[in-house]
Amino acid sequence: MRRAVATRIGARTNLALLVLLAAAFLTGWLAFAFATAPSRWSLILHATSGFAIFVLLPWKSMIARRGVSRPRPGRWASVVLAVLVLASLAAGLAHSTGVLVIAGPLTAIEVHVGAALAAIPFAIWHLAARRIRMRRTDVSRRSFLKGAAVIAAAAAAYGSTEILVRAAGLPGNKRRFTGSYEAASFQPELMPVSSWMFDAIPQIEAGDWSLRVGSRRLSYGELSSFEDTVTATLDCTGGFYSTQAWEGARLDRVLGKIDGSSVRVVSSTGYERRFPLAEANRLWLATRFGGRTLDSGHGFPARLVAPARRGFWWVKWVVAVEVDDLPAWWQAPFPTQ
Ligand code: HEM
Ligand code: HEM
Repeated sequence: MRRAVATRIGARTNLALLVLLAAAFLTGWLAFAFATAPSRWSLILHATSGFAIFVLLPWKSMIARRGVSRPRPGRWASVVLAVLVLASLAAGLAHSTGVLVIAGPLTAIEVHVGAALAAIPFAIWHLAARRIRMRRTDVSRRSFLKGAAVIAAAAAAYGSTEILVRAAGLPGNKRRFTGSYEAASFQPELMPVSSWMFDAIPQIEAGDWSLRVGSRRLSYGELSSFEDTVTATLDCTGGFYSTQAWEGARLDRVLGKIDGSSVRVVSSTGYERRFPLAEANRLWLATRFGGRTLDSGHGFPARLVAPARRGFWWVKWVVAVEVDDLPAWWQAPFPTQ
C-alpha cells in the first residue's frame, strides 16, 4: 500500500516536472523573441516554472535515489540530465541575482541557455526510457490543489529573491525588463562584441565592399554619405544591452520606391533575417556609432539597427538587402547559424 502511494507521488512529480520543463523552455524562447513588455511577462512565468522545479527537488531526489540504486542501462544519461538541469538553474540564478554574470569566455545566460539546450536530447531519452503510467485518479481535485500549492510556493520563492536582490543592492537590481545588464552605453569603444552563435568576425576592406540593393550596387562612400541618425538600444540575448547613437541610412531611403512584402537583410557570413517591408522606415543601415566608424566586431562596413527588436535581428557585415513577395514570417523564428 505504502509503495503504491509512493509510486503515485512519483508519477505525479515526474509529470509536473515535464510540464514545468516545457513551460521554462517555451517562456525562455518567448522572452528572447520580444524586446518589449511580453518579455517581462514571459520571464515572470519562466522564473516561476524554474523555481517550481526547485520546489519539487526533494520529491524528485527520492525518485532519483530509488532509480539510481537499480542497476539499469542508461542511468548515467539520467545523471547527465540532472547535472545539466541543475547547471542551467544555477546559471539562471547567478545571472538574475548578478552574483556571477560573466563566467570566463561565456556569460551566465549563455551557460544557462546552453545547458538547457544540451539537456534536450537527454530529456527526450529520459522520457522514452523511464516511462510513467498515469491513472485516471491522478487527475483529481487533490492533485490540482497540490500543483497549485507548488506554483504558489515557487512564485513566493521567486518574489522573495527579487526583494532580496533589491534590499541587498545586488547587481541584479539593475536588470532591464528583458533581464539584461547595461554595458558601455554611449561608449562605442567599450561596447561588447557578440554574435548569435558561431559567426567569426570577417575583415572587410571598404574599397572591396559594396551593398547589393536588388539589381543596384552602392559603394561604401555612397552609403556612408547618408546622415540619418537614431539612438537605439541593442539588447543582446547574451544578457547585456547597450544604447548608442547610430548613424547611417534609413533602410526605406536606400530601397527607394519598391513593391513587395518583406526585405531580406544578408550578411557576408551568410547570416540573414527577414523583416516586413512596412518596417523599413524604422530600420537603419548604420556605418557609424557615437560619431566613429563601426569597427569589424560591431559590423563594419554596415550593420542593421532594428530598435524594436532583440540583438539577433541586428545583422552585421551587411552585403545585400533584397525585397520580395514572401511574408516576413517565412523564416526560422531564431537564426540557425
Ligand atoms: C528535471 C528533470 C529531471 C531530472 C533531472 C531527472 C533525473 C532523474 C534521475 C537522476 C533518475 C534516477 C536514474 C534513473 O532511473 O535512470 C530519474 C529516474 C526517473 N525519472 Fe526522472 N528526471 C527528470 C524529469 C523526469 C520526467 C519529466 C519524467 C517523466 C515524465 C521522469 C521519470 C522518471 C522515472 C519514471 C524514473 C525511474 C524511477 C524509478 O526507477 O523508480 N523524470 N530521473
Ligand atoms: C531547463 C530549462 C530552464 C530552466 C529550468 C530555467 C530556469 C530559470 C531560472 C530559475 C531563472 C532565474 C530567474 C530569476 O531569478 O529571475 C532563469 C532566468 C532566465 N532564463 Fe531560464 N530556464 C531554462 C531555460 C531557458 C531557455 C531555453 C532560455 C532562453 C531561450 C532562458 C532564458 C532565461 C533568461 C533570459 C533569464 C533571465 C531572466 C532575468 O534575469 O530576469 N531560460 N531561468
